[in-house]
Amino acid sequence: MKTNDLFFRLYFSIISLFVSGHFLKADCAPPSEWSRTYSHVVLRDLNHILTYVTGMERFVHGEVLESLTVYLEYLEQQHLETYGHCVRVAQRVFRLGQFVNAEIQKSGSAKFGRGTLKTHELVQLVLAGLLHDYGKLYLPREVLDKEKKLYPWEMAEIEKNVIKARLATDSVIDLALQDELRLKLEDILYFIKLLNDPEVSDSQRKMVMKYWNVWLTGIIINDVYYQILTPDQLDVLAFPYGTWSQEERKQFETHVQLSVDAVSEISWPDTFGELIPIISVHHEFLNGSGYPQGLTQEQIPFFGPLLTLMDIFDALRSSRSYKGPKTVQDTLKILRRMADKGEVDGRLLDILIQHLDEVYHW
Ligand SMILES: [Fe+2]
Repeated sequence: MKTNDLFFRLYFSIISLFVSGHFLKADCAPPSEWSRTYSHVVLRDLNHILTYVTGMERFVHGEVLESLTVYLEYLEQQHLETYGHCVRVAQRVFRLGQFVNAEIQKSGSAKFGRGTLKTHELVQLVLAGLLHDYGKLYLPREVLDKEKKLYPWEMAEIEKNVIKARLATDSVIDLALQDELRLKLEDILYFIKLLNDPEVSDSQRKMVMKYWNVWLTGIIINDVYYQILTPDQLDVLAFPYGTWSQEERKQFETHVQLSVDAVSEISWPDTFGELIPIISVHHEFLNGSGYPQGLTQEQIPFFGPLLTLMDIFDALRSSRSYKGPKTVQDTLKILRRMADKGEVDGRLLDILIQHLDEVYHW
């Protein structure tokens, strides 16, 4: 077979995988239906691509593929949600990369400040998609999968506090005051449960924090103070989004470096020299407001924003322990707002929207 024929056959093998619909609506299907099958499909096609890219060093290639297999199987076993996310991001970022390439071919190098993309660069994008969140495996599972702002055992403790205070109202002689205190305790528990839901509306959260802030922490009955919430718990409940305390968020953000460290342990061929830098910036924003380093556009490697965009797209479209999926329309609206703020690349978002059916619906 001529080199060119081989090139095209291998180059498009991964495309045919994606076009074939193996991953169709993967984020909407129950994980058990697609997880195991698709990891093998991804690896089979990566095998083809990698054989081409590193064909001259088959031994190295074999090792790389073996490591990759082990990593992905471990990721799948340990955290199916992250695994599914990574597989979907890998396939979509690859397709987005192809359309970016088509745009560069059409409009020239000025638009993105570089020439057309090389095969091995697209392969790196796939690999970065597959491995970018690997570091999440090193985080405490209770933090990663936290469903509410307070842990179940914290809520159980709070309910006990309320019961204790309720029992104390038995000794209040003024019956009107006794009724008032009991009603207040019911309200306190109701509002704590309301705030504990990470999807509580912003207006409800603000209203409760404005009028009930002091009451939620404790109540005085017969001159004795009964604590309901700790100040830390009140802080978590007051957060406008997500389920994590500031400390837990900081801990979560370490997953980027943990991914970099883990993926660096594989002996990647020189051809994949950009893989680690791409993974290291997948939560950076162009305007410098991302993490962990707060890099700006000039400091972020070219392929980083592609991965960031598809990463956020999939996160918004997916169910999480603490939230349901956004619709495609809402997802695109959120991404547009992020582009307007300079967080994600508006040019890439335009290309994604223009080719949404091909990037997402195939
Ligand atoms: Fe991540």
